[in-house]
Amino acid sequence: MTGNSLKLRLLLKLILTNRTEFYDRVSTLIEVYLDRLRAKPSMSSGARLTTVVDSLGGVLGRDLAPFLAEQAAMEVEKRIWKNLSELSNEAPFELYHNADRSLAQFCYLACRTLSPKVVLETGVAYGLTSTVILQALSVNGQGCLHSVDLPPLGRNADNYVGLLIPQTLRSQWHLYRGASKRVLPTLLPQLGTVDVFIHDALHTYWSMKGEFTQVWQYLRPGGILIADDIEQNRAFEEFVQKAKPSFYAMIQEEDKNASFGIMIK
Ligand SMILES: C[S@@+](CC[C@H](N)C(=O)[O-])C[C@H]1O[C@@H](n2cnc3c(N)ncnc32)[C@H](O)[C@@H]1O
Repeated sequence: MTGNSLKLRLLLKLILTNRTEFYDRVSTLIEVYLDRLRAKPSMSSGARLTTVVDSLGGVLGRDLAPFLAEQAAMEVEKRIWKNLSELSNEAPFELYHNADRSLAQFCYLACRTLSPKVVLETGVAYGLTSTVILQALSVNGQGCLHSVDLPPLGRNADNYVGLLIPQTLRSQWHLYRGASKRVLPTLLPQLGTVDVFIHDALHTYWSMKGEFTQVWQYLRPGGILIADDIEQNRAFEEFVQKAKPSFYAMIQEEDKNASFGIMIK
């Protein structure tokens, strides 16, 4: 069975087993289609990661660059690439789901800089950003990561969500399965306050706007919001205008033609 016919079969099976998930997946397909008709951002493409790290360090009054050179950061990166290269042919999702290296580096740096108690991310896939965040929390000696993911359709896909996360880091990890628009309204009041938020789930206008709006109310002053693939629509730039963060930047990704954005509340 080809990849697409397997996905179709798994999708149709949801009509019998989980109507809510069926509805969420079909509405995703419609949103993705409609997004093609939307205006693209008017903002220019991003700056280099090192440039933004320097200016953020200036704002915070600290040199942040040493975090990127830490041994724990190097080790986790090496382990991730080794594990990815050993992924079996049966792995159910395409590798394009994986976060870009510069996004992963910034997630590590944000968690080392703020030493957060509560980190929230949407979009896990094999767990690249989750792994670097958990590594940073482990170096800090405090904090938990709460991850929300509706896995891509694929054979035994659920078993592969967060596959890269080593057992030693899992005690600080909580995974919530489902579309972020369903999970966040219940999860956010339980968390109370969020120190770092990473959006890396569904990159449509409505999904990004919805996540930013919901999470911003719970992000503490000085907390960081990080959003991947902000070049796809105007959700990030509109939110910058509306929320008036104390600092924001767009960063050009290293390995793909995309940008991620950051805002400090
Ligand atoms: C770009 S990948 C995440 C990559 C990951 N952060 C990493 O570091 O490699 C996006 C993930 O979000 C999931 N997803 C898609 N739509 C979603 C939604 N509405 N809510 C939650 N997760 C979603 C996808 O199935 C996929 O697992």
